[in-house]
Amino acid sequence: MSETIHSTLEERRVFPPPADFAAKAHIGTRAEYEKLYRESIDHPEQFFGRIAEELHWFKKWDKVLDWQVPNAKWFVGGKTNVAYNCLDRQIDLGRGDKTAILWEGEPETAAGAGGEVRKITYKQLRDDVSKLANGLKSIGVKKGDRVTIYMPMVPEAAVAMLACARIGAAHSVIFGGFSSQAIADRVDDAQCTVIITADGGYRRGTVVPLKRNVDDALTKTDRVKKVVVLNRCNMPVADGVAPGSIAWKEGRDVWYHDLVGTQSADCPAEPMDSEDTLFVLYTSGSTGKPKGIQHTTAGYLLGTYLTTKYVFDMKPDDVYWCTADVGWITGHSYIVYGPLANGTTCLMYEGAPNHPDFGRFWSIIERHKVSVFYTAPTAIRAFMKAGKEFPQKHDLSSLRLLGTVGEPINPEAWMWYHTVIGHEKCPIVDTWWQTETGAIMITPLPGVTPTKPGTATLPFFGVDAAIVDRSGKELGPNEGGLLVIRKPWPSMLRSIFNDPERYAKTYWSDVPGYYFTGDGARRDNDGYFWIMGRVDDVINVSGHRLGTMEIESALVAHEAVAEAAVVGIPHEMKGQGIAAFVTLETGRRADEALKKDLIAWVRKQIGALATPDQIRFTESLPKTRSGKIMRRLLKEVASGNEVKGDVTTLEDFSVLAKLKEKDEG
Ligand code: PRX
Repeated sequence: MSETIHSTLEERRVFPPPADFAAKAHIGTRAEYEKLYRESIDHPEQFFGRIAEELHWFKKWDKVLDWQVPNAKWFVGGKTNVAYNCLDRQIDLGRGDKTAILWEGEPETAAGAGGEVRKITYKQLRDDVSKLANGLKSIGVKKGDRVTIYMPMVPEAAVAMLACARIGAAHSVIFGGFSSQAIADRVDDAQCTVIITADGGYRRGTVVPLKRNVDDALTKTDRVKKVVVLNRCNMPVADGVAPGSIAWKEGRDVWYHDLVGTQSADCPAEPMDSEDTLFVLYTSGSTGKPKGIQHTTAGYLLGTYLTTKYVFDMKPDDVYWCTADVGWITGHSYIVYGPLANGTTCLMYEGAPNHPDFGRFWSIIERHKVSVFYTAPTAIRAFMKAGKEFPQKHDLSSLRLLGTVGEPINPEAWMWYHTVIGHEKCPIVDTWWQTETGAIMITPLPGVTPTKPGTATLPFFGVDAAIVDRSGKELGPNEGGLLVIRKPWPSMLRSIFNDPERYAKTYWSDVPGYYFTGDGARRDNDGYFWIMGRVDDVINVSGHRLGTMEIESALVAHEAVAEAAVVGIPHEMKGQGIAAFVTLETGRRADEALKKDLIAWVRKQIGALATPDQIRFTESLPKTRSGKIMRRLLKEVASGNEVKGDVTTLEDFSVLAKLKEKDEG
């Protein structure tokens, strides 16, 4: 963790919420926000108990909160079901015929016409979910089991998640960009015996071979007994080697359409304990092994429900679009659970933002009259670079609210989003949160909070965020420090799957008694939070979180590599890029061919998102006398900066000189 945190941002522009927006917003005055915020912090049981009444319960809770650092139990003794709240409750509220999922596929039906469109109503979605839920039961899935989902962005991905929730099995969704090795590791860690996947998925005009990756993964683990395969791409069954085909293992593999075909559309939702696990989702930390972040039922449902309602100011006739993938927490909370728990029409797009060109997102917004749009700064930067002529070809007047998530947004990108996409009339909610927090934590309320480009502004209800030093002492305005949360909140992670000790150590020991986010931040004179990025060994590449040690482990698993050190470097488009310093086994040649080989190797071990931007061969790595790699120095070298600061503990000064020579040479 770096000891000094600097911020060079000086941002003075302030954008108050448009008056007509505030007049119609769920929360429209600062006084109302402050009153509710105070209540949520001073009397959380009263506040969250009242909100929980808006959800459906099979049995009401006995106690709102049971808290002993670091273990929180919310709505103790209550029984509910997340899928019931997202489907049956919406139907009971009269939304049965409303579109729940409005899906557009990637391949265009004709040039400029967009892709295939499917509209699934709440009633249809409940039927689809119930059929798959019954299908999963028929192949032995029981309450308390874990099911892996490795799917393209098709409605069936949401159906699969909800089907698990309906019968009380926890899902473990793996992003479709992860490699077979990553699948095998996650399947083993979560002890999954069933995988739901598809033959392939469309992405940027090509087909991602999902089933093939699963087959490969299953040569590395023998845990999985059944593989459910959705036919998305009509790939013929063959030996799986011929391009475009899939292999088939009789007895293990079952077609999705065969599994649901004969099932009843009636599957009662399982009453789940508030603290039963809803899902496990893997994310990177500062060790080599991704952590299975464990979220439970009632608190997570409440957190995603409440934030969706207020942060996106969700109204009955909104068409809401979050561009994330369901393989990430943003997709879990803000494509599936939060929007559906609010009875929203949620748009889901299968493919890439730039297919067939950079106009695709804007044509989708125009075609489907999207009103609330939530995306990532990295995408905004890519659109900026592509040029405003793409959005300007489309009617974006349906938009009323914009959001961002995943990384700090640079003020230039914020201003572009505000003017070119929002036409200066849409508030922007820059939402800070994490896989671990389950739901949005620091964010403007669109009808209330004056925004400034680059800050996530103020904490949401129930979030006691603070900037502290290592002892937990709160720092003053504009002092950089560690971002912590001092009180439990309903959607917080409950543990790391099967590893409660690692949970306590990772999150609750750096600043004793507080949840440490891993982020550095400062508060300005208005109390706004400016996130400065990770202060641990985690890097944020295009809004995706990667552990430097995870990439190092992948590199040293290559037979040519002796040692590796990975650091994040500034990257114009991705936010951060990946630089890897590598020392080789004796006798290996440090040449371009090996560089290419190592890059391909990392992609194979983890996935394309971990592709190193730079591989640098070196004879040795700079280390402290106690043997720790001096990442700070490597960062400076990789970024092309003058190496500054304390180098007196360097074990071997000549190493640094050699690294620099290489750089200059
Ligand atoms: O560093 C912060 C950054 O993303 C990290 C969380 O990553 P992940 O668990 O993958 O979840 C991403 C989507 C919720 C945080 O520790 N981050 C996320 N949102 C923001 C952000 N940094 C600055 N501003 C944000 N709005």
